[in-house]
Amino acid sequence: MIWDGREQEKGEGEREREMEEKRRVCVTGAGGFVASWLVKLLLSKGYFVHGTVRDPSNEKNAHLKKLENSSENLQLFSAELHDFNAIAAAIAGCKGVFHVASPVIFTEVSNPEVEIIMPALEGTKNVLNACSETKVKRVVVVSSVDSVVINPNWPKGTVMDENCWTDEEFCRKIQSWYCLSKVLAERGALDYGKKHGLDVVTVCPSTVLGPLLQSTVNFSSFFFINILKGSLDSIRNHQSWHFVDVRDLADALLLLYEKPDASGRYICTQEPIRIADFLKLLKNMYPNYEIPTNSLPELDEDSEMTSEKLKKIRWKCRELKETISDTVQYYEEAGLLSMDMKIVE
Ligand SMILES: NC(=O)c1ccc[n+]([C@@H]2O[C@H](COP(=O)([O-])OP(=O)(O)OC[C@H]3O[C@@H](n4cnc5c(N)ncnc54)[C@H](OP(=O)(O)O)[C@@H]3O)[C@@H](O)[C@H]2O)c1
Repeated sequence: MIWDGREQEKGEGEREREMEEKRRVCVTGAGGFVASWLVKLLLSKGYFVHGTVRDPSNEKNAHLKKLENSSENLQLFSAELHDFNAIAAAIAGCKGVFHVASPVIFTEVSNPEVEIIMPALEGTKNVLNACSETKVKRVVVVSSVDSVVINPNWPKGTVMDENCWTDEEFCRKIQSWYCLSKVLAERGALDYGKKHGLDVVTVCPSTVLGPLLQSTVNFSSFFFINILKGSLDSIRNHQSWHFVDVRDLADALLLLYEKPDASGRYICTQEPIRIADFLKLLKNMYPNYEIPTNSLPELDEDSEMTSEKLKKIRWKCRELKETISDTVQYYEEAGLLSMDMKIVE
């Protein structure tokens, strides 16, 4: 074969374009806590990212434009989850999709079906339909351990793994709408994948902590800030708790996208810790904070969860102490512990 310079140049250009297309992925809800760390990770690895946000010009998404490589490799799309055309426009041309956006609401709402369940289900369906149209290679859907643990029939004392599913009827009975939205969306996504031949992998993270990239405060960070300020409201019903670092969760999402043989669902969590030990650890690390350590209610043991399936594909995670230390340092530097915060929906 005779090589001429222009042919070679064209060949390289095409190869580059092909490489670029392979590394083009979409992240829904890009401006949120978890998604922002994922976008940061993807950009640092040379991915081209289509990020969906409700309003790209809103100041709360400004941090995305400051991430390394964002000026060349990040494109923001305006998309509400119920708007199929907007979602499809963001996913067009992508080889992979990370579906992270979902209503994360733990406060009382007047119409949970409309405010929580519908957007979660319709949003997931729109994302999956758009993925099928574009022939996306893999969709990684962010679910939650809330889609795993609310199962009164799981045998007591048995470690919960990916075979354990939250009981939908029980969620309705206790009016746990967020948990219901997560289990319905996750089941729906895996069923859709089987039915339509779409490669869908789901990830179930436990409570996510870590420094924030965004300027707003998401729910899990809000809960932790409240504990550091002396409130036990968010942990009253638990005997033990599972956490995961937001940076390790971002690693898990990318790992599950890149590992060809990944399939099904994956619990993503550090080792469990008893609430009493968690509060003692906080008190030891931050003796000047008003952390309550002696007013815990007596409760039955919670079942523990395992991330063995994820660890088998070489996922590694930080120790809780490191997560706490980095998180609190961020809160202190950002002045979040001295602010009077309210939940704004
Ligand atoms: N943080 C945790 O402890 C935790 C644990 C397990 C699972 N998860 C899951 O992780 C994902 C991200 O949560 P997060 O903690 O990062 O919370 P977050 O910061 O509140 O992120 C949620 C994202 O979803 C977007 N969103 C919600 N409803 C939408 C709608 N109708 N249309 C378009 N976008 C919508 C939000 O946009 P706006 O900002 O515009 O509302 C936001 O970007 C969620 O799927 C959540 O269920 C989180």
